[in-house]
Amino acid sequence: MAVEAALAGSPMKTTYIGAVQSGEHDGEQVTLKGWVKRSRGNNNLRFIVMRDSTGTIQCVVKRNIVGDEAFTALSEALIESSLELVGEVKVDERAQGGHEIGVVSAAVIGGVNPERPFPITESAMAAADGGETEFLLDHRHLYLRTSRMTTMLQIRSSVFGAIHGYFRDLDFVEYQAPNFVAGAVEGGSTLFEVPYFGKKAYLTQSWQLYAEAAMPALERLYTIAPSFRAEKSRTRRHLTEFWHAEMELAWANNDEIMSHGEGVVRRIAKTLLDERSDELASLDRDLDLVARYADNPYPRMRYDEAVETLQGMGVDVEWGQDLDYSKEKVLTADFDVPHFLTHYPKVAKPFYHRVDPDDDAYVLCHDLLAPEGYGEIIGGGERTWSEEEILARIDEENVPREPYQFYIDTRAYGGVPHGGFGLGVDRVVSWLSGADHIREVIPFPRDSRRVTP
Ligand code: 4AD
Ligand code: MG
Repeated sequence: MAVEAALAGSPMKTTYIGAVQSGEHDGEQVTLKGWVKRSRGNNNLRFIVMRDSTGTIQCVVKRNIVGDEAFTALSEALIESSLELVGEVKVDERAQGGHEIGVVSAAVIGGVNPERPFPITESAMAAADGGETEFLLDHRHLYLRTSRMTTMLQIRSSVFGAIHGYFRDLDFVEYQAPNFVAGAVEGGSTLFEVPYFGKKAYLTQSWQLYAEAAMPALERLYTIAPSFRAEKSRTRRHLTEFWHAEMELAWANNDEIMSHGEGVVRRIAKTLLDERSDELASLDRDLDLVARYADNPYPRMRYDEAVETLQGMGVDVEWGQDLDYSKEKVLTADFDVPHFLTHYPKVAKPFYHRVDPDDDAYVLCHDLLAPEGYGEIIGGGERTWSEEEILARIDEENVPREPYQFYIDTRAYGGVPHGGFGLGVDRVVSWLSGADHIREVIPFPRDSRRVTP
C-alpha cells in the first residue's frame, strides 16, 4: 500500500499487458499504459486494441461509463497514440489472449497529429512481405514498434544474455579494446579510415589483437562489442557495423577453442528455447530445428574435404581460396547441424593464424558454418605465439611491423600457446530466428548505402 501511495500520480508503470493476459489480474481493476494498435466502433461503444512491450489486449470503452470527454478523446486517438486507462480485467474465451478490459476511465497521454498519421500501415508491411523495403528502412525508427521487429529485438536480447552467461559461468573476464586502431586485423580491403587529428586511424575490425595483449594478464577473456568492416557489397549476411562476440584463451589449442565455440552456440540455442519459444513460433521458426542445434555435437571436417565435396557437387572452387558466401551456401544447405571447417590453407588467412607444425601449407584455424545455407558464423583458431614465428609471418605477408609492435612484444615477453574466436552475433540471431536478411535483426542496420536514420 505504501508503494502504491508513493506511485499515485507518477508516470511509473506497474502492470503490463503480458501479466494481464497470463491471468495474474483476473477480476481485478488495473491501470494499463500503452499505445493504440487498432481502434473501431461507433458513437457509444469503441473497441481499442492496446499494445505495450509485452502484448496486446482489447479494451472496451463505453460512453455511458467513461463520460463524453474521455470517450471523444479516445475515439479520436489515432494509431500509436499513447493512453493510460483504468479498467476491469474480464476473462473472455473469445478475446485474443483470453482477456478483455472493461474500461472505467481513460486519458490520451501523447496524441498523433491527424495530418501525419503513423506511416507503418498494414499495407506498407504487406508490400514488404516480411522483407524490408526502402520505405520501411527509411522509417526504421517507427518500424521498430511493429510486432515483427519487437520480437526480433527480444530474441536478440536473449542471445546477448546467453553469450554473457556462457563466458561468465566459466570465469572469463569481460574486457574492452579500443575502437580506434592503427592497423588491420582482417586485411586492408575492409578497413574504415577515419581522420584523426592530422593522422590516419581506422575503425577496428576485431577486438582480437588487443585481447591478445591482455591474455597474459587475464588468461580467459571475452567481449561483445561492435566491429566495423567497409564491406562494399550488400549481402544478406554483411553489415558495415556488426556486433562481435570474441573470446581469447591462454594455454589452449584449436580443438579446445572449437569446443567453446560449440558450447556458446549451443547455449544460445538452448536459451532461446527456454526464453523465446513463443516469439520464435510467432516468426514461424521450426523449434525442432533450434532444439537440434542445442542438443547435438557439431562435426569437424578439414577444409580440403569441404573443397572436395564442393567440387563433387560441380561447384567451381579452387584449393587455396577462402570460401565465400556462394560456396558456403551450397555446402551448408544439407547440413543438419553447424559444422566446423578446420585447417584452411595458409594463403587464405591473415598473418596471426598459427601455421600447422605438421604441414606448413595449412594454419590451425576454424570457421563454424551454420546450416540451412546460412554459412559462416564463427572464425577463430590458434595464434602464432613465438616472437620468431610472428616476425616471419608478418614479413612473409608484407605487413608493416610498426603498427603491430605491441602485438610482437606480447610474444617477446613470455609468449604462450593461445587462441580464440569471433562470433557474428547478428548472423547468429538471423540464423536462429530464420530471418531472410541480417538487416532484420539489428535495430538500425548499417551498410554501404545507408547510415540513416
Ligand atoms: O572471421 P572473422 O573476420 O574473424 C575475426 O575477425 C577474428 N579476428 C575473430 C577472432 O578470432 N577473435 O570475423 C568473425 C565473425 C565471422 O565469422 C562473422 O560471423 C562475423 O564475425 N562477421 C560479420 N558479421 C556481419 N557483418 C560483417 N561484415 C561481418 N564480418 C565478419
Ligand atoms: Mg572469417
